[in-house]
This record gives sequence, structure tokens and C-alpha cells, in this order.
Amino acid sequence: MLPGRSAPLHLPPQYAMATRLDRKEVFARLRAASPAVNPSILFCDFSNLAREIRRVEEAGVPVLHIDVMDGHFVPNLTFGMPIVKAARSVTDLPLDVHLMIERPDRYVQQFRDAGADSMTIHAEAVEDPRPLLDHIRRLGALAGLAVNPPTPLAKIEACLPHCDLVLAMSVMPGFGGQEFDPVALEKIRELRARRELDALIEVDGGINHETVGACAEAGADLLVAGAAIFCSDDYAAAIHDLASLAAASAPAR
Ligand code: DX5
Ligand code: ZN
Repeated sequence: MLPGRSAPLHLPPQYAMATRLDRKEVFARLRAASPAVNPSILFCDFSNLAREIRRVEEAGVPVLHIDVMDGHFVPNLTFGMPIVKAARSVTDLPLDVHLMIERPDRYVQQFRDAGADSMTIHAEAVEDPRPLLDHIRRLGALAGLAVNPPTPLAKIEACLPHCDLVLAMSVMPGFGGQEFDPVALEKIRELRARRELDALIEVDGGINHETVGACAEAGADLLVAGAAIFCSDDYAAAIHDLASLAAASAPAR
């Protein structure tokens, strides 16, 4: 019956709500860990997902970044709720789900039920992100809003009070292993300078030992790294180096 299906696909009952930390508890943990290395599993060995997550968890990261791509909002297709649910089943780390998808409103409940602790939607994907950001908060997850390199912060000015997390992309979304775009640094600085902003500042794309210090110095709380970790021979050493460089550069808060 599937091919002709017209009704929306209803997820099987196994997506029972994962028992999750309270949104404020997750926020406090990530704020306390700032600046924190946030591994993106995009480049991990998915045939050994549990082992890959365990390795970065044992290296001391406080969070895990899961890149969801739909092949429409971005020209790449990765994974969805099943991978979030699988990650949820093997770690208690907060799951920071980056939704590079059109119509995120259709899926936030399912991603929350699968175990997402934070969900970041793109300002370029939603006309007015505020209602959906509020809805994500009501689901008990941190509400995140991402801006691509060409998108000015002015575009999301009115959304900032609705955000627990603001993601300044330092690459165009869709692929790991890209070159860092320093346009993100100015946005991080501007966000950090806003005393009234009570949101985590995240940067994502091209973060490695050459770029992590500048991002931490600018004021980023969460530093997403994919290739710099999962394309290295020693995940723990790569994480340690990134975390040390970030800590050495971060301004006193
Ligand atoms: C890109 C993703 C990033 C990316 C990071 O669209 O949002 O999280 O995977 O990977 P690196 O660190 O390899 O640029
Ligand atoms: Zn990402």
C-alpha cells in the first residue's frame, strides 16, 4: 500500500518519547561547558555508530551534533529520525540536531520524540521562524536558528528572543570538509556583544585547529567539528587539541 500512500506516513509506535533532560538543564550544561567542541557525526563510520559515539563521548565532549539533510533545502541527503533514535539509545549526551531541511515544522515533534535535545532550523527555510521556535521550546527542546554565510543577522533580529541557540554557519550547509568562511566571525562577535541575548552561540563548518581559536575568541559557545575529528586517526587527540586551542583563545566571561 505504501507506493500510493496519500496520508502522511505515521511513525510506528517505537518512537515513544525518549526520556530527556529538561531544556533548561541542557542549556545550563552547555553554557557551563563553553567553549565546547561539538562533534558532527556526518563523517563517522555509520556501520559502527555506537562505537563512534562512545569514542567521542570518552574524549569528554558535552554534546553531539547530528546533521539532518533532506536533499531539497541542501543538495545532499543524510539521515533522519532513525539515526537520532539510534544515537539516543547509546548515549546520554545532549543531541544537537541541525535541521537542514524544508518544512521543519512537519518533523520537530518526531525528532523530539526520537530524542533530540536541541533542534536548529534555518532562517532561510522558514518565512517567520518565531512560531516554530516557540513550538520547539514547548516540546522541551532548545530552539535554535541558523543563518547561512550570506544571510545578515538583521534578518533574524526579531527572532532572537525566541532562540536558545543561534548558529552562525561558516560554510554553506550541505557538506562536511569545506573551507571555513570568516564571515561567521563578525556575526559571532556581534551576537556575543549583545548583553540581552540569552542564547548559546554556535558555529559550524570548517572548524579545525587553524580556525577554532578565532571562533572561540570571537565568543562562540559551541564549535561544531566534523572532518577535523572523524577524518583524523585519533578522535580523542583531535578533540583534545581543538578543545585546548578553544580554551586558550576564549575571552574571560
Ligand atoms: C554542514 C554541516 C556541518 C558539517 C561540519 O552542512 O552543518 O555540521 O558537517 O563538518 P566539517 O567540520 O567537516 O566542516
Ligand atoms: Zn551542522
